[in-house]
Amino acid sequence: MNMTKKVTGVYNTFGQQYHDSRNNAGGRVHNEYIDMPAAFSLLPKQLRGLRVLDAGCGSGIYAQALAKKGAQVTGIDVSKKMLEIASNETPTKLGVHYLNGSISKLPFRPTTFDGIVCMYVIENIQNINKVFQEFYRVLQHGGFCIISISHPTRAQITKIEKDGKEIWILEDYFKQSVRQANFGGGMVVPKFTRPLQDYTQATAKAGFLIQNIIEPRPLPAAKKVDRKKFETAMRLPQILTMKLFKS
Ligand SMILES: C[S@@+](CC[C@H](N)C(=O)[O-])C[C@H]1O[C@@H](n2cnc3c(N)ncnc32)[C@H](O)[C@@H]1O
Repeated sequence: MNMTKKVTGVYNTFGQQYHDSRNNAGGRVHNEYIDMPAAFSLLPKQLRGLRVLDAGCGSGIYAQALAKKGAQVTGIDVSKKMLEIASNETPTKLGVHYLNGSISKLPFRPTTFDGIVCMYVIENIQNINKVFQEFYRVLQHGGFCIISISHPTRAQITKIEKDGKEIWILEDYFKQSVRQANFGGGMVVPKFTRPLQDYTQATAKAGFLIQNIIEPRPLPAAKKVDRKKFETAMRLPQILTMKLFKS
């Protein structure tokens, strides 16, 4: 079966569970204390009036946050269930426009957007060259693109516990494969694993310049929310966030 169809089916079935998991203690450490502060530190200071695409918007967590900062946001996702949750969760006054579609074939004219954010979606896609070409096409010259992925080392590891600490065993960093990411409660999402250079090469091939790459660690306040997750994330990289630029 085509991988995008498979991923769409998983999010259509488990969408509500996935959305709820973003608000439990572990999910909050990830969102509020690692992921969002990192992504927002790379965004332009002034978003008011900018046209921003949330590519693979899921339940609209980023779309909402960007719209609250004044951006004109469009969210696109393959999963109708995720879009239904996004529409229900997003106050109408924010004016976010949600639509169903794939980031591998964007239904927009060239240079439609001033910026793109794409959080934890690229790993679901086999042909990442196509996605970066599409992002480049729909971006305005001078536009930015922020991409977050699970850290490429994290995607390849086996976890073990030793003396109450999480230890990672990295057997084959360069292996390209499909792993089954287990989100609990029966939700298993197939994800492509690849080394960092596959991403940097695909972005360069599409024409992008890489402005920044960060490996964010949690804000100190995360310790009170989920101490174990905080301590692990201070030692081992969870996320990789890239800022790309179209000159
Ligand atoms: C891990 S969730 C992240 C959602 C959102 N970006 C966030 O950070 O809250 C991945 C999302 O990507 C969507 N997705 C996967 N493949 C896609 C594709 N080819 N085009 C558009 N959306 C896709 C899934 O339906 C799901 O909603």
